[in-house]
Amino acid sequence: MSTQRELFSSRLGFVLAAAGSAVGLGNIWGFPTQAASNGGGAFLLVYLLLAFLLAYPILMVELVIGRHARANPLDALRATAEGKTIAPLGAAIGGYGVLIASLILSFYAIVGGWMVSHALQPIATVLDQDAAASWLIEFSNPRNILFTTVFMALTVLIVARGVKGGIEKWSSRLMPLLIGLLVLLIVYVLTLEGAMEGLTVYLVPDFSQIASPQLIISALGSAFFSLSLGVGTMMIYGSYIDEKESLPQLGGIVTGLDVAIAVMAGFLIMPAMYVALASGVEIYAADGSLISEDTLIFTVLPALFNTMELAGLVVGFVFFALMSIAAVTSSISMLEVPVALMIEKTQFSRTTAAWLCGAVILCISTVILFNFGDLFGAVIAFTTRYSQPLLGMMFCLWMGWVWHRSAVLAELQRGAPAIESSLFWKVWPNYVKIVCPIVIVAIIWQSF
Ligand code: TRP
Repeated sequence: MSTQRELFSSRLGFVLAAAGSAVGLGNIWGFPTQAASNGGGAFLLVYLLLAFLLAYPILMVELVIGRHARANPLDALRATAEGKTIAPLGAAIGGYGVLIASLILSFYAIVGGWMVSHALQPIATVLDQDAAASWLIEFSNPRNILFTTVFMALTVLIVARGVKGGIEKWSSRLMPLLIGLLVLLIVYVLTLEGAMEGLTVYLVPDFSQIASPQLIISALGSAFFSLSLGVGTMMIYGSYIDEKESLPQLGGIVTGLDVAIAVMAGFLIMPAMYVALASGVEIYAADGSLISEDTLIFTVLPALFNTMELAGLVVGFVFFALMSIAAVTSSISMLEVPVALMIEKTQFSRTTAAWLCGAVILCISTVILFNFGDLFGAVIAFTTRYSQPLLGMMFCLWMGWVWHRSAVLAELQRGAPAIESSLFWKVWPNYVKIVCPIVIVAIIWQSF
């Protein structure tokens, strides 16, 4: 090991870094329209329940394993097997996680780059650089490669500075800014014509829809992605938490923040869509559902900003700056996974490891960009739809069936001395040992 292992400097530092990881593009471009199309307020309720009933317990598995082993996922899983013959399998699972984290970053950096280029477009317009402005928002490989590189470089620069000086410092700066910008945009959009209709669609509960198993399963999947589970990100962040902290409490705060910001994003996106509708922008897809995801972000909202003239330039800039911030506090948590492995396994310094991992992942992004139609969606499906839940299930099984329960308890007791008599300890160990794996198998089964 080349350096002394760093820790987050404070509880708040961890909370902001982990919430920074969790709050990302998923919260803003997926959640609001999903809620609106699936029963509004009723969906919010289901999502809230699932976040705490499924995602939170798995987040806890990662945090406990990570803090106990104080190592990358590969060594962490191996260490918790305590010398049993099954230990190498733990290393293999951890290695799979590192690979998936890297692959997730390879497509996330492409999308992050789009956010940065869209944030620059209003600036180019103000400077009367019309050709540049339209180049920035048109899909082309030169633009894609340039901005994926820019985004990856930002990520590397932060990770290279370390846990405290990079990840924690920048998450602590950017997360309050993100919340501030989000509130600002919400307040502004709510003053516009049509906004209240959007709020109604978003919030009025339609309980007839929430019984659908399909819906519950898709909400489960997004809760998983949203909390950055299953690839070792949270395991690594857990490995940087001080011993005196109560893990169940910290995990609860992070889950709560992630859900809260997703819900808040709905207060921006849904009113904005109906403001767009009031100004003549199409917001429904051909099948009658609300336009969502990339088309929402890169077509519907820019069309809305266009109708707003000068104000639209400011709002457009602020919105895409917000998206870029959300993306970068998530991407650093992905890059940290292979980087932590590399510095613990080789003689490389953190800086070298960060640039090396960044460069390799950028090469993968470039391959994806040159085969966009074939690879982009496929990589997303392989990593987020199949690998993440599968890995999450393995983490649960590992903790439940391989690691000693007394060791788990001892780790939790470090920061929470009274945990043994708590409801958490009565429910959680068997819950992740049995219930979570079954539920995850059901999710994967359904998605086939
Ligand atoms: N949670 C982030 C989002 O909602 C994305 C993310 C960050 C992530 N780190 C991750 C997803 C690790 C999967 C695995 O956008």
